[in-house]
Parts: sequence; structure tokens; C-alpha cells
Amino acid sequence: MRQEAHRQWLIMTGQTQTQVATRVPTESEKKLAMKKANETFSPMPQQAVYAMLGLLDLKPGQLVYDLGCGDGRILKTANQVYSCSVLGIEINPNTYKLAVENLQDCVGWRVINADATKYNLEEADVVTLYMYPDVMDKMRFSTLKPGASVISYNHDIPNLPTDKVTCELEGKTYTFYIHKKK
Ligand SMILES: C[S@@+](CC[C@H](N)C(=O)[O-])C[C@H]1O[C@@H](n2cnc3c(N)ncnc32)[C@H](O)[C@@H]1O
Repeated sequence: MRQEAHRQWLIMTGQTQTQVATRVPTESEKKLAMKKANETFSPMPQQAVYAMLGLLDLKPGQLVYDLGCGDGRILKTANQVYSCSVLGIEINPNTYKLAVENLQDCVGWRVINADATKYNLEEADVVTLYMYPDVMDKMRFSTLKPGASVISYNHDIPNLPTDKVTCELEGKTYTFYIHKKK
């Protein structure tokens, strides 16, 4: 158990086993590392992930992008439940490492540690997002191919026509905004 906690700490702080072999992190260092990693990372509940992907008519082999993929949970579910190829872009290096770790048992995945606003989206069949509108507003949705879908959890997508859809799952209501590129 202690070993697992230590391994998680290494991932969060971006260190390798070799780099910390001579010193055990203090409690305040551990807290700071966790705080940093969590500052921008608030994952979707897994039930919301199931609800989100269930709203899309996903087919095996389709390419799903998650912009700001966090720990990769949307990608993992799209890959393992719907047999989609998946690509995540995550700006936070510590959170990126969690996604890489989380996707190890998937086939057909890639995660990039970068700013998603810098990437064209023309290869995506589906783009998923859970982030604030001011960041979504900078994404390159104009590069989407016709027929591609964009789905956002909780926040409407600025400057794109969307349908608001709510899903009830096990007593909880989840809200999504869906755009279909014409
Ligand atoms: C609310 S979390 C959602 C994570 C994941 N998609 C989920 O649903 O569980 C938003 C994520 O977007 C990342 N993020 C914010 N701005 C970004 C950007 N410009 N490019 C890539 N990732 C970004 C944050 O680091 C964070 O991990």
C-alpha cells in the first residue's frame, strides 16, 4: 500500500524512481504536489462518462479526441467499451502522466502533453470536452470534418450551435451540449 502511494506520488510530481532514491518526500511536499496536479483537474464522474458516450452513435474504429483528457477516463471507456481509437491532449504534465498510466491496457491510443488549442481536429469523428467555456472558445472547431460530433459536459460550447441533452442515471442528472458539424 505504501509502495503504491509512493508510486502515485512519483507520477504526480513527474519524478522517476532514480531521482528520489536518496530522499523520501516530506508530507508538505506530497500535499503541494497533489494540490498542483488537482488545481486544474476535476474529473467527470464515471457515470457521466458512460452517459456521455452512450449519447453518441460510436462505431468501432472511429477516432475519439478528448481535449483536456485529465486522467484519460473518457478515452479508456471509448476504447474499451466502444472499440474506438482514442487521442487525448492534456496540458498539465502531471495529469498527462496519469492518463498514460491509465491507458496502458488499451489498444489504439495516444496521449499528447500539449495545449489542445494548438491542434487541428480534422481527423476526429468525435471530440469530447469537459472544460470552461473560455478555454473551449479557443479550440479549433473550424477544422472539424463534416459529420463530426462535439460533446461537452456541463458547459455550453461558445460560438457553436448545440443541442442540450440531459440524462438521468442512478438518480443523478447529467447535462451535455452536442454539436454536429454540417
Ligand atoms: C475538468 S478536467 C476534465 C478531464 C477529463 N476530460 C474528464 O472529463 O475527466 C479539464 C482538463 O483540461 C485540461 N486543460 C485545460 N486547458 C487545456 C488546454 N488548453 N489544453 C489541454 N488541456 C487542457 C486540464 O489540465 C484538466 O486536466
